[in-house]
Amino acid sequence: MPLKSYGLEGVVAAESELSCIDGEKGILEYRGYDVHKLAKNSSFEEVAFLLWYGYLPKKKEFEKFKNDLRNRREVPEEIVELLKLLPSTTHPMIALRTAISFLSSFDERLEDYSEERNMERSKRLLAVFPTIVAYFDRIRNGKEVIPPDPHLNHTANFLYMLRGERAGEIETRVLDLDFLLHAEHTMNASTFTARISASTLADMYSGIVAAIATLMGPLHGGASQKVMEMLLEIGEVDNVEGYVKRALAAGERIMGFGHRVYKVMDPRAIELRKLAQELGEYTGDLTWYEISEKLREVVYREKGLHPNVDFYSASIYANLGIPVDMFVCMFAIARVAGWTAHMIEQYRDNRLIRPLQRYVGRKNLKYIPLEDR
Ligand code: ACO
Repeated sequence: MPLKSYGLEGVVAAESELSCIDGEKGILEYRGYDVHKLAKNSSFEEVAFLLWYGYLPKKKEFEKFKNDLRNRREVPEEIVELLKLLPSTTHPMIALRTAISFLSSFDERLEDYSEERNMERSKRLLAVFPTIVAYFDRIRNGKEVIPPDPHLNHTANFLYMLRGERAGEIETRVLDLDFLLHAEHTMNASTFTARISASTLADMYSGIVAAIATLMGPLHGGASQKVMEMLLEIGEVDNVEGYVKRALAAGERIMGFGHRVYKVMDPRAIELRKLAQELGEYTGDLTWYEISEKLREVVYREKGLHPNVDFYSASIYANLGIPVDMFVCMFAIARVAGWTAHMIEQYRDNRLIRPLQRYVGRKNLKYIPLEDR
């Protein structure tokens, strides 16, 4: 009988060329490129190209690629109508999940599993995620939707559709890098979910819907919303010490800390920390950054835990004015790049993912007919 491994810890579930983590050294690479180098030199759209095609694009290729994405940002009018039908209290991730499920009905070649078609779907999915998220936020607030602006890049356009006005250069760059840093991360729970779906030969939309559903949980992408709720509860730097001690004594988890793979600080958190500070200085509000810094110090001292990707991104989203319940949507907007790349990889060399379980229930029971029980 194979060894049990709770939470599949230590189990290799797939072979992938997309990304690689060294949890002891705190290294993350996308397709062989260190994430710090990419954050310094690249953009989210370029990283999406890298993940899907396996190499960094040449100038002309990249222009065409960006144009391809730009041309796919619009959603069918029926999707807008669907978003209007949802109660305004609907969580934005549920709105996104529902809209992507509905979007599959507009794919007239759903049965076509060719790589060419799946690449086309990947572009479409990546391009419409920001539109759906921005549209739903405007609709739930009783505002008119703002159609995509083809003159803006992926991230600038998202902020424009959300706010109704163009964002500043620093804000756009910070969010773009946040997306770049969230784009892909080996066999995390939502990516594994997407790969399991692909392994049954379910269509790409189904896998992405399942991945969105999995990302929502507070132990995964939902953590950034919980981090913000914690920052709001703490309120000021002087309250950090008391908050952490009380929470740990009560056996609670401090959201945004700890990771299954990283034993040192998550390299994405290192970059996001710098970006949170830069953005705080730009907006003139360092409240969340300063509370986060104190939390980092106290949680490490008390529990030896480091921040993960969801920790500083909360301060960033708050300073960009993104509603707290939409934080996890930022993660989804970025991670759809990795999910789709993984699904394509899985379809390419597929074998049904079907692990075992260890049965711990009763055996050989005597059946008693209903009337005799
Ligand atoms: N706060 C307090 N204690 C923690 C935390 C935390 N955030 N994370 C882990 N621990 C403790 C556990 O209580 C446990 O302690 P014990 O051995 O004394 O019982 C020990 O560390 C190991 O914890 P596990 O749950 O076994 O570790 P696992 O690898 O399963 O957990 C996880 C990883 C889920 C991310 C965990 O660290 C956690 O719950 N963090 C908070 C939620 C969070 O930030 N999630 C986002 C993760 S990153 C991402 O998905 C994008």
